[in-house]
Amino acid sequence: MGYEMKKVEEGINFLQEKGIPEPQVGLILGSGLGELAEEVEGGIRIPFTDVPHLPPSTVPGHSGQFVVGELNSIPVIMMQGRYHFYEGYSPQELVRPLRIMGGLGIKAVIITNAAGAVNVNFNVGDFMFIRDHINFMGINPLRGANLEELGPRFPDMSKAYDEDLIQTGEEVGRQNGKITRKGVYTAFTGPCFETPAEIKMVGRWGADAVGMSTVPEVIAARHMGLRVLGISCITNMAAGTLPQPLSHEEVMEVGEQVKPEFKELIKGILVQGVF
Ligand code: HPA
Repeated sequence: MGYEMKKVEEGINFLQEKGIPEPQVGLILGSGLGELAEEVEGGIRIPFTDVPHLPPSTVPGHSGQFVVGELNSIPVIMMQGRYHFYEGYSPQELVRPLRIMGGLGIKAVIITNAAGAVNVNFNVGDFMFIRDHINFMGINPLRGANLEELGPRFPDMSKAYDEDLIQTGEEVGRQNGKITRKGVYTAFTGPCFETPAEIKMVGRWGADAVGMSTVPEVIAARHMGLRVLGISCITNMAAGTLPQPLSHEEVMEVGEQVKPEFKELIKGILVQGVF
C-alpha cells in the first residue's frame, strides 16, 4: 500500500473506532452553507484536526469537522467546511476527507459551493445543479501513483454528475417553489476573484458559474465510483458583469440569506433521491 493510501486508511480506521454508524450519503458543505450540519439528529462531531493526517481548515465560515448521524432518517456524514487549494494544501490533501468518507461506505456525495454567476440570466440567490465542469485549476488530485485500491488510472469523466440526482433536485426545487438552474461550473484556484477578462473567456467556453473548489473532490469521487450531485449557490454576479467590486463578505451574506431554502433543498433530495 502506498503512502497516501495509508493516510486515508488511518483516517478511516480512526473514525470507525469511534463507533460511528455507516453513512450512506456524504455531504460537503461550502462557504456559508455549513449550518445544515446543525440539523443532524444525535450527530457525532469530529474536528478534522482530531483525524490523523487531516490539517485544519483556515477560511472564515468553514468550521472544519465531520458530522455523522441521520438527516431525515438517512445515514449521512457531512464535512462542515472543506479544504481549498488556495489555502496551500496539496491536491491530495484536498480530497483526503472525501476518500475517508468513501472508505466509510458512502455511495453518493452531495458537493456544495458558493459561486459567482457567469451566465447573466442567473440571479444572486439561485441554486445551480452542476451538469459538467471545466477544471481550470491546473491541478489534479489523481496526479502521482494511482491509488489502485480506489479506482483506475484513467477514470472516465463523461458523466461525472449524476443525471438522476439532478432530476430529483430539480423536482424538489419545484415542490419548494424555488426555480433551480443547471449549468457548467469552472474552477479557478483563487484566492483572488477572477478578472473581467477571465470571466468573459470562460463564458465563451461555456461556463455558467465560477468558484474555487469542488472540482478536485468531484474528480476523486468519480475515481472511486461515487455518484455525485454538485450544487452551486450563486452568491454574486461574476467579475465584470456588474460595476461593483466582489467581496467574501457578500458571498457569506448571501449564503446566510439562502440558508433556509438551501437546507430544504438538500433535505428534500435526501428523502426523495435514490441513493
Ligand atoms: N468567483 C470565484 N469564487 C467564488 C465567487 C466568484 O465570483 N463567488 C463565490 N465564490
